[in-house]
Amino acid sequence: MKIIVYGVKPDELAYFEAWQKTHDQPLSLHSELLDEKTVAWARGFDGVNCLQTTPYSAAVFAQLAEFGIHFLTIRNVGLDNLDLAAAKQNKIRIANVPAYSPSAIAEFAVTMTLYLLRRLGETRAPLAAGHWNQAASFLGRELGQSTVGVVGAGRIGQAAIRLFAGFGANVLAYDPHPGHPEPRATYVSLKQLLAESDVVDLHVPGIPANDHLIDDAALTLMKQNAVLINTARGNLVDTTALLKHLRAGHLGGAGIDTYEHESPALLRYEQTGKFTDPQWEELAQLPNVLLTPHVAYHTETAVENMVNFSLANLVRFLTKGEAPDEIMIK
Ligand code: NAD
Ligand code: COI
Repeated sequence: MKIIVYGVKPDELAYFEAWQKTHDQPLSLHSELLDEKTVAWARGFDGVNCLQTTPYSAAVFAQLAEFGIHFLTIRNVGLDNLDLAAAKQNKIRIANVPAYSPSAIAEFAVTMTLYLLRRLGETRAPLAAGHWNQAASFLGRELGQSTVGVVGAGRIGQAAIRLFAGFGANVLAYDPHPGHPEPRATYVSLKQLLAESDVVDLHVPGIPANDHLIDDAALTLMKQNAVLINTARGNLVDTTALLKHLRAGHLGGAGIDTYEHESPALLRYEQTGKFTDPQWEELAQLPNVLLTPHVAYHTETAVENMVNFSLANLVRFLTKGEAPDEIMIK
């Protein structure tokens, strides 16, 4: 069984090394991402394992098929960067890791919410300038006295509902396909959720149908001083409209882990330099905005599970022709 692994990050190495030892199975590990150039390295391998936010293109799938490779497992949840139609056309079967740790992302959303409700960002500049009294002037709000609207009540959304409910918040949820609804939330329409929530927390996939789900009209529906949290995907929020509502003092703040114009190099630790983007720069200047570089997932538990569960999927594909987390492409 010959396995090639792309996009290996330094924090994953120890888990890959441990896996190789316990499985007595070497892996060909590469820090580079899978693309039209690096796909050539997969020749002669049986299966591919990857982590990246850059596209898996039709050309990559065609090349893998030409090498006789039919199994790809990815170490993350989101499928938005995969050309699934091209994968199917080239008979490439794919598995993701749907639940490496929903709590990791849910806890991060709660962290951002508390930071913004207690206005911690606003204390930083006056504190740095030595203006202690001014820094102490920002009156916060309590999560337990707030209404939180969770948009997308799947694995991560439901974990977030449980955490917010644990703080005593009144939790609303919107999901057009709720499955088994989480009883700690009241399920309402998106319109009602936006109109009644002090915190709007997004956990929906970044599929094209959800592009700018939170646009100017949606933001207009939100309460004065409400806070928006996006740890899901950048394309869900219209950043131009978000800036307009922040500048106008309508929104109380925003927590953005997944930014609309995110750098494709974000998972490449070895690449340094300034990320320049005018809207990012403007958001970064706002004390009531918390920006993070797509790290909501980034915990020891999550990274270990991403490695182990995705390799378990690949081994099952290669030995049994099936994998527990195979994505069924329509
Ligand atoms: P999931 O599939 O378990 O749940 C997603 C839910 O969203 C589903 O119940 C679906 O019905 C619902 N949904 C889809 N479109 C909707 C819409 N327009 N309005 C309301 N609900 C809608 O997925 P999950 O595991 O909860 O993950 C959610 C997303 O989180 C992933 O797709 C990924 O983009 C993102 N994510 C981000 C990070 C990070 O580090 N920032 C890590 C993991 C996942
Ligand atoms: C996901 O698992 O979908 C994420 O967003 C995590 C990231 C490392 C790609």
